[in-house]
Amino acid sequence: MNSLIIYAHPNPASFSAALKSEIEKALEAKGDQVKVRDLYALNFNCVLSGADLSGIYSGNIPEDIKVEQDIISWADNIILIYPIWWTGLPAIVKGYIDRVFTYGFAYKVGENGVEGLLKGKKAYLITPHGTPKEYYEPSGMLNSLTQTQDEGIFEFSGIETGKHFYFPMMGTDQSQREEYLKEVNAFFKK
Ligand SMILES: Cc1cc2nc3c(=O)[nH]c(=O)nc-3n(C[C@H](O)[C@H](O)[C@H](O)COP(=O)(O)O)c2cc1C
Repeated sequence: MNSLIIYAHPNPASFSAALKSEIEKALEAKGDQVKVRDLYALNFNCVLSGADLSGIYSGNIPEDIKVEQDIISWADNIILIYPIWWTGLPAIVKGYIDRVFTYGFAYKVGENGVEGLLKGKKAYLITPHGTPKEYYEPSGMLNSLTQTQDEGIFEFSGIETGKHFYFPMMGTDQSQREEYLKEVNAFFKK
């Protein structure tokens, strides 16, 4: 299996970074071919510009976008690891989606409406967040996050979504964090 990790966190000491290392290790142990796109390390340009849009609509995809699209085409599984910021994607991840999941690559509009073009791939989302589950679950926020991310981006593009891990971090101690790491390790080893 070809597994692509798209990772975004500016701090190498973050829990997101620990999740990335753990998942990479588990996938390699399983025998997957693994590629990692570390969006901050790449200094990924996350602002969709007018020039990008003209290029996309005229079939002249900017080179840095083409590189990412080729890697997505290569992947069977796409694992996204980023913290929840302001109840959504960090800007660098949002901009990656804006620029890379383009019309004609990720989706198109045909006779039967919108069609996702990335069929046959699976996405897994790993999103630590501050707010405890006791608040985010009953308030409907977890459903909103699932709807706007899993459904609104990946399923819209034809990608089947596997598990979405929500890891509440506020007040967690070392042993709870180790439990989270064990959970992703066991999941991705399979
Ligand atoms: C700019 C910013 C915005 C944040 N917004 C949210 C939020 O909307 N909901 C939430 O639960 N946590 C929010 N947080 C907390 C982070 O999600 C949390 O600190 C992070 O997931 C912890 O994991 P890390 O060590 O990988 O950063 C925010 C943090 C930052 C820096």
